[in-house]
Amino acid sequence: MTGARMLGLGVYRPARLVTNDEIAARVDTSNEWIRSRTGIVTRRIADDEETTAVMGAVAAEKALASAGLTADSIDLVIAASCTSPSQIPGVGPQIAHRVGALRAGAFDLNGGCAGFSYAISTAADMVRGGGVRHVLVVATERLSDYTDWDDRSTCILLADGAGATVVGASDTDEIGPAVWGHDGSRHEAIQVPGGGDNLFRMSGQSVFRWAISLVPAVREVCERAGVAPEQLAGIVPHQANLRIVEALATGIGATNAAVARDVVDSGNTSAASIPLGLARLLDAGEIRRGDPVLLFGFGAGLTYCGQVVRCP
Ligand code: ACO
Repeated sequence: MTGARMLGLGVYRPARLVTNDEIAARVDTSNEWIRSRTGIVTRRIADDEETTAVMGAVAAEKALASAGLTADSIDLVIAASCTSPSQIPGVGPQIAHRVGALRAGAFDLNGGCAGFSYAISTAADMVRGGGVRHVLVVATERLSDYTDWDDRSTCILLADGAGATVVGASDTDEIGPAVWGHDGSRHEAIQVPGGGDNLFRMSGQSVFRWAISLVPAVREVCERAGVAPEQLAGIVPHQANLRIVEALATGIGATNAAVARDVVDSGNTSAASIPLGLARLLDAGEIRRGDPVLLFGFGAGLTYCGQVVRCP
C-alpha cells in the first residue's frame, strides 16, 4: 500500500454551553455585536475534569471505534495542541496511555490553529514512507485556560474541544498534498506572551485581514489536489470567525460545497476546530464518506496549512 487516508473520526464537545448574553454580562459587548462580527452564538467551555488529555482521549476512542480499530494497532500518536497545561510533559503520551496505545510512539505538534492540518500531513507522509501503518492524530484544546475574560475582543471567540482521526495505509491516496506557509515576522499578532502574562493576546483586525488574504493559498490546495473548487463536496476552514470562513469559501468559488459553520455553536477551538467542523458536516448528512473535502487551518505563528481529503 502506498497511499494514506483518514480511517475514522471522533470528537469531544464539552457539556457546558456559554451564551453571548453570559459574556455580555461580564464585558462591554452584546449578543448582536458578537453575532454580526463573528457569527458565534454559543461556545463550549470545559470544566475542571475536561482536560486536554481527557477530551483528546475520548475523541481518540471514538475515532478508533469509527475506524473499526483497536488501540493496539496504533503505531504513533500525534497530539496537535497549543493549549496543553504545561510545556513539559506534552499531552500526546498521556492520550496514548489513556486509550491503551501502549506500543505507540507519541509526541506533540504545535501548529497553532493549523495544527490538525499539519498533523495529518505529517502522519500521511509517515504512513506513505512505510515506517508506520496507523497514526492516531488528536487535536485537543482548552483555550479557556488562556482566556482573559475581561478582554472583550478575545473572550467572545475562544472555546474548548477535541477531535481525532486515524491516518492509515491505503491502496488509494486520499490525503492530498499539503499547501503551507507562514509569516513569522508577525508572530506577535497572536500570542500568549509569558513573563507574567499567560493570557491569549491577538491583534484581531490585522489577523482578520491576513486570514482573508489567504484565498490564493486555499485555491492552491485545490490545484495541488487536482480538484476544481466547484467539485468540492465540503470546505472546512479553521473555525475562527464565520466571516472568515465564508470569505474563504466564496473567495475560491466553492459553489457546491457544504461550508462548515461549527463556529456558530462551538466557538473557536483552535486546532480542534477542523475535526469538529468536519464531524458537524458528516453528522448533518451534508457530506458523505469518500467525498472530497478541503481542510484549511490558519492562526498563531502566523502559519497556515491545508489539504483536500476524502471524507472518512
Ligand atoms: N463588543 C463590542 N465591541 C467590540 C468588541 C466586542 N466584543 N470587540 C472589539 N470591539 C470594538 C473595538 O474596541 C473597536 O472599537 P473602536 O472602533 O471604538 O476602537 C471596534 O469594536 C472594532 O474593533 P475591531 O477589532 O476592528 O473589530 P472586528 O470587526 O475586526 O472584530 C474580531 C474583532 C472578532 C476579533 C475579528 O477581528 C477577528 O475575528 N479577527 C480574526 C481572529 C482570527 O482569525 N484568529 C485566528 C487565529 S487565533 C485562534 O484561532 C485561536
